[in-house]
Amino acid sequence: MPTTRTPIIAGNWKMNSGIKEGIQRCQEIVKHLPETQAEVVVCPPFPHLYPLSEVLKNTNVMLGAQTVHKKASGAYTGDVGAFMVVEAGARWVIIGHSERRQYYGETGADIREKILLAQNNGLTVIFCVGERLEERESNVYLDVITRQMNEVLDPSINFDQLVIAYEPVWSIGTGKTASPEQANEVHMHIRQCINNINGDKTTGEKIRVIYGGSMKPENAAELLAQSDIDGGLIGGASLDAKDFCRIISHAN
Ligand code: 13P
Repeated sequence: MPTTRTPIIAGNWKMNSGIKEGIQRCQEIVKHLPETQAEVVVCPPFPHLYPLSEVLKNTNVMLGAQTVHKKASGAYTGDVGAFMVVEAGARWVIIGHSERRQYYGETGADIREKILLAQNNGLTVIFCVGERLEERESNVYLDVITRQMNEVLDPSINFDQLVIAYEPVWSIGTGKTASPEQANEVHMHIRQCINNINGDKTTGEKIRVIYGGSMKPENAAELLAQSDIDGGLIGGASLDAKDFCRIISHAN
């Protein structure tokens, strides 16, 4: 990983843990946080954001939301707007996670609107892409990634406030990690897509591309050692503060 790209380790807690448990986990993360150059982000459920922002004040751990609504505000019962998560302490947001695509029918157009709005509110976006198992097996995975990138991104996106997460759907929560070589191939492809979209040769080299899908302390070092893997988006293993910190220790 070139030293010009600061690594990122982000934990996606998904819909897990009560607020008390979240507070304890964050206190433990802060206590065990290794010396690191990586940016560390925790993305808990919405109700945790404000209380955790108090716990993480003046620490090196930042907060992110797991999604936001595509509209700024209004009559959208049950939803949460970008400005609200910013007020609650988030500086980051995950957009386009495969679970949002699968269970909430989020489309490329929705994801694009969300990214633009989130960036307008000052959030740095972790935009997720990734192929399903049948797309990997039928060898169309790079085409799928290209389509997911092209339908969402164009030069109006702020690439300085964007991180791409490659999360092959078949590796999420399954224990089946992409091999370091499989992941690195897609990460290089993502950089090429970014260059094509932004019409230059430098944006793809600068942008951070992180890997997600069954990353854990045992496989993190090998994945993070790849030339084009700049960090991780961690689900299950981020629910254990010590495991999360062990992953962070591999990210220099
Ligand atoms: P797991 O690490 O549990 O496979 O989840 C990955 C993920 O979806 C992170 O966003």
